[in-house]
Amino acid sequence: FGVPGMAVYKRTVDYCKEKGLTVIGDVKRGDIGSTSAAYAVGHLGKVQVGSRSWSGFHEDFATVNPYLGSDGVKPFLKVCKEEKKGIIFDLDGVIVSTDKFHYQAWKKIADKMGIEFNEKINERLRGVSRMESLEIILEKYEGAPLSAEQKQALAEEKNGYYVDLLKTMERCDVSEEVVNTLKSLRRKGYFLAVGSSSKNAKIILRQTRIEDLFDAVPDGNNITRSKPDPEVFLKAAEYIELLPKQCAVVEDARAGIDAAKAAGMMAVGIGTATEYDKCDRKIKSFGELDQIF
Ligand code: BG6
Ligand code: MG
Repeated sequence: FGVPGMAVYKRTVDYCKEKGLTVIGDVKRGDIGSTSAAYAVGHLGKVQVGSRSWSGFHEDFATVNPYLGSDGVKPFLKVCKEEKKGIIFDLDGVIVSTDKFHYQAWKKIADKMGIEFNEKINERLRGVSRMESLEIILEKYEGAPLSAEQKQALAEEKNGYYVDLLKTMERCDVSEEVVNTLKSLRRKGYFLAVGSSSKNAKIILRQTRIEDLFDAVPDGNNITRSKPDPEVFLKAAEYIELLPKQCAVVEDARAGIDAAKAAGMMAVGIGTATEYDKCDRKIKSFGELDQIF
């Protein structure tokens, strides 16, 4: 925050606390008064202060309360707590098509070990952790039992192949449809998070340069139990400061739909998850989210 605005900002935060409002954004130095309000409206689609709300730019925003005077107040992205809503996205297979890279990397391991592995078995790996995926692949292994160290080495080898494939990713590996929909949901005021079982989620977001579109990214490094356990989604809700019931999940995996329901969240299925009757909603393409939310 710009130094001159700090005290005003603090007063505003106190005001919001007192009124049960949540401050959900900040404005850069130089964004003052009504300019800030316009920024807030542009970012969230809506600004609410006390009982008054604006969904478009209004001259009178800057004079709405004593703490939001025209003297350079931090603008104020505030929405009533109960109005805050979040959408949590699975990453692999929803935002990006890294599921095909997982398959290719596991296939190398399976071929090397003479294990039968095909796309059907691969479906069972969606949403589950790396070590659990390995156990599923080893169901078809007929050799001598493997030690924990050998399994660890196989998982690491697979991850090496996988990360090499991830390094080839760039911005164009996220479709325009996905980017535009995420931007639109942000403009409408939704908080967006990623909820992924992958320990590589942040690499993927960095490679594709979409990390700024999300408010929080809990992933395989932040959890001890992977989907269908709800842990990663509950973490996401916690990070964006929402109750589970205020969140929806978008998933391509059965395990993810189960996790969303176990978390008490609305579950939107896309891709293979649409064959699963536990979905609350099913979408054929990502852009349909703009109609649901
Ligand atoms: C999930 C994928 O997102 O991440 C799974 O759907 C994968 O297939 C899991 O096993 C773990 O990924 P990583 O990158 O930590 O090996
Ligand atoms: Mg997935």
